[in-house]
Parts: sequence; structure tokens; C-alpha cells
Amino acid sequence: MPAETAPVLEARGLFAGYRKVPCVRDVSLDVRPGEIVVVLGPNGAGKTTTLLTMAGALPGLGGEVLWRDSPMKAALHHRVRAGLGVIPEERSVISRLSVHDNLRIGRGPIEHALELFPELRPLLRRRAGLLSGGEQRMLLTARALAADPAVLLADELSLGLAPKIVTRLMQALRGAADRGTGVLLVEQHARQALAVADRAYILQRGSLVWSGSADEARQNLRRIERAYLGQDVGA
Ligand SMILES: Nc1ncnc2c1ncn2[C@@H]1O[C@H](COP(=O)(O)OP(=O)(O)O)[C@@H](O)[C@H]1O
Ligand SMILES: [Mg+2]
Repeated sequence: MPAETAPVLEARGLFAGYRKVPCVRDVSLDVRPGEIVVVLGPNGAGKTTTLLTMAGALPGLGGEVLWRDSPMKAALHHRVRAGLGVIPEERSVISRLSVHDNLRIGRGPIEHALELFPELRPLLRRRAGLLSGGEQRMLLTARALAADPAVLLADELSLGLAPKIVTRLMQALRGAADRGTGVLLVEQHARQALAVADRAYILQRGSLVWSGSADEARQNLRRIERAYLGQDVGA
């Protein structure tokens, strides 16, 4: 990643939370075009709160969120138009609509979505509510990436999925990053996200406790899982 590339999305000293009570404190992180940044942390660490505030879906309680170096104040739908893609934690397929119609709701061409995930082609007429969890996640990812977003924010994309599907989704994110999208990925499970990530941050109880290259994180995975993620993976 060229160090001189400016961030496309950045949190600077961000405080975030609910009903004016911050549960995320003084978090600074950034995403540059073409890189995958993963935010790791145990349940309740503040990952979703950080992501939603960076997406503009939650008002910040201090600090700033910068979009290409300017404070980002526009409403979420304006940001989406400006190139912000979000795959939220509560999944947003519309169950009663077909796969095709779910893709049509996206901002990108359906054909592009199908090039990214040819697996969806035979499922186009199926109601999205009848898809497996993995297929639904592919649909959401295809829809988000078809628009070639400048930034994609994805919350626990891998949660509950078989490793093979997680690998498939992570490869799709890597492909998008290689085409220039800045990807911010929030995950509780480190291994598969780190396999495609460039950089990592770790949140614990609302504060950043570690940041570094994904290489460094991969080399210290056991220690990181034990110390920060509450996952005692054994010897
Ligand atoms: N809608 C909400 N209202 C009040 N508190 C919330 C809400 N959502 C999350 N929280 C609290 O904020 C903290 C951080 O939660 P969250 O950002 O969802 O963590 P993570 O995504 O890392 O699991 C937790 O203590 C959680 O209970
Ligand atoms: Mg969460």
C-alpha cells in the first residue's frame, strides 16, 4: 500500500455511543483506497458502534469522521450516492423479493453483481428469504460491490458461516480492494479476515488497544486472540 495515499474515510478522536453516553472513546482509524482494514474485538467492544458512526448512521459524540479529508455531515443516503457501501450487522435482504429484485435495489448493475458472484445466477428467481445464510451474505456483498463503492463498511460478514463461504466472501473483498475500494471490515473472528487484510486494529471496551499490519497480527495471532479477543484457542 503506497504510504502517500490519503485516507478516503477516517475517524479522528471519535467518541460514539447511545443516548449521549459514549461506549467508544477516542478512536482514530483510517481506510485508504485499495486496502482492507479489519477492526477486531470481542463482543460488546464497540465495533458496530464505531462502524455505524463512521457510516453516518449514528451521530458522533465527539471527535470527527472525515470523508476525503472533509467532515462528513451529509445524510446517509447522500453518502451512499457519494460512494459509501454498508453491509450492516442486521442483514438487509428483502425476504419476499427475488434475488434479482434484491440486486435491482442496489446502486450497481445487476450484471456486475453476477460477474462478481456467478453463484447467484441460478438463484435469480428465488425468493431471497429462501436462500441459505451464506447465499444471503453473497447477495448482500454482490449488491454492495456492484456499485464499485469508494468505501465498503461490512459488519461481521463472516458470522456463523462455513469457512469455505467465508473464504469466498473475503476473496471478493480482496478483489474489490484491488480495484480501488477501501474496505473496513469489523470481525470477531480474526483468522480469515487477517488472511486478506492489509492492516488491523483491535478494540477492547471501547478503546483501541492495538494496531498494526495484518502481517504482524497474523504472526502474533495466538497471543492476540488470548490477550484481546477472549478466545483461548489452546496451546
Ligand atoms: N442501541 C443501543 N443502545 C444502547 N447501548 C447499545 C446499543 N447498541 C449497543 N450498545 C452497547 O454499546 C456497547 C458496544 O456495542 P457494539 O458496538 O454493538 O459492540 P460490538 O459490535 O463490538 O459487539 C455495548 O456495551 C452494547 O451493549
Ligand atoms: Mg457488533
